[in-house]
Amino acid sequence: MNKLTAAITAVGGYIPDFVLSNKVLETMVDTTDEWITTRTGIKERRLLKKEGAGTSYLAIKAAEDLIAKRNLDPKEIDMVLVASATPDMPVAATATYVASEIGATNAFSYDLQAACSSFLYGMSTAAAYVQSGRYKKVLLIGADKMSSIIDYTDRTTCIIFGDGAGAVLFEPNEEGLGLQDEYLRTDGIGRNFLKIDAGGSILPASEETLKNKQHFVFQDGKTVFKFAVSNMADVAGKIMERNQLGHEDVHWLVPHQANKRIIDATSKRMGVSDEKVMMNIERYGNTTSGTLPLLLWDYEKQLKKGDNLVFAAFGGGFTWGSIYLKWAYNG
Ligand code: UT7
Repeated sequence: MNKLTAAITAVGGYIPDFVLSNKVLETMVDTTDEWITTRTGIKERRLLKKEGAGTSYLAIKAAEDLIAKRNLDPKEIDMVLVASATPDMPVAATATYVASEIGATNAFSYDLQAACSSFLYGMSTAAAYVQSGRYKKVLLIGADKMSSIIDYTDRTTCIIFGDGAGAVLFEPNEEGLGLQDEYLRTDGIGRNFLKIDAGGSILPASEETLKNKQHFVFQDGKTVFKFAVSNMADVAGKIMERNQLGHEDVHWLVPHQANKRIIDATSKRMGVSDEKVMMNIERYGNTTSGTLPLLLWDYEKQLKKGDNLVFAAFGGGFTWGSIYLKWAYNG
């Protein structure tokens, strides 16, 4: 009998309607379209403006898109994982609400948080459950409402992030397609450079923390940039070496969309040419857990059965890694 692998068999996505362009940001903070474009590659990002709607709203929309496209009975889903750095609330898990709302009434569900690597790590988790033989349909959603934790008077962060969500379904595969290898790393030193100081167990919310704006994202961009460039390229290179993949064997690089310059450095190190690099940072900015599945959503039609995809991500924590996956169907 062939070894059981876990393959992605369907993709869904959702981005909110509201567009925040660089031009509009020019009127909000001391920045320019030219600075943002040349330093990050971002032209616009989408924000969820609907009142009372949180990350679950984005996640549900993405999951419903996948369910409709695939004509899937949600009752067949065994498990719902929501990868997110911006859950609806600190307690309870966003995934439980999402599972109920999409009609996945036979599923168990929980959230997974590893900042911008949440979805990448979620791929590892989802695939492992499927490979164990215990579960057949695992829905993994990457969703973030970054606008809920961004200070729109801080030019160093508000130009980067956007809201969005993507979803994939992992199922067993007996042709050897799906997740082939992974190389995932962490380094706790990173929490000094990309964090939200307050609202957790170290520094609970208080009048003081509100006054000091400690509930917003803080990022030492330069330091994070340096770590991201060297580590993303390093793990992508390692995955290629370990699997004897030459640059000609890689059909697609699927990189976290944090900064076009980080993506370019990674693809250069891998020797992968630009037309093989998935990119949508120009339109969505950095949607944190949404970036990888939204790339699959945008590029799905161009993907062919058997294509070799190399995923790479870097995020707060620090967390980073790379996954090698063989695509399982023609888009
Ligand atoms: O996804 C999770 C992981 N996150 C990342 O991977 C993000 C990594 N970091 C980055 O992408 C980049 O560091 C940023 C895009 C955040 C910043 O770009 P940079 O080229 O590293 O700029 P910098 O922080 O070195 O700042 C250069 C200058 C500074 O001015 P001075 O000190 O040289 O006078 C900043 O104050 O640019 C200034 N600056 C801006 N100027 C115009 C910072 N933000 C802006 C802005 N518009 N929005």
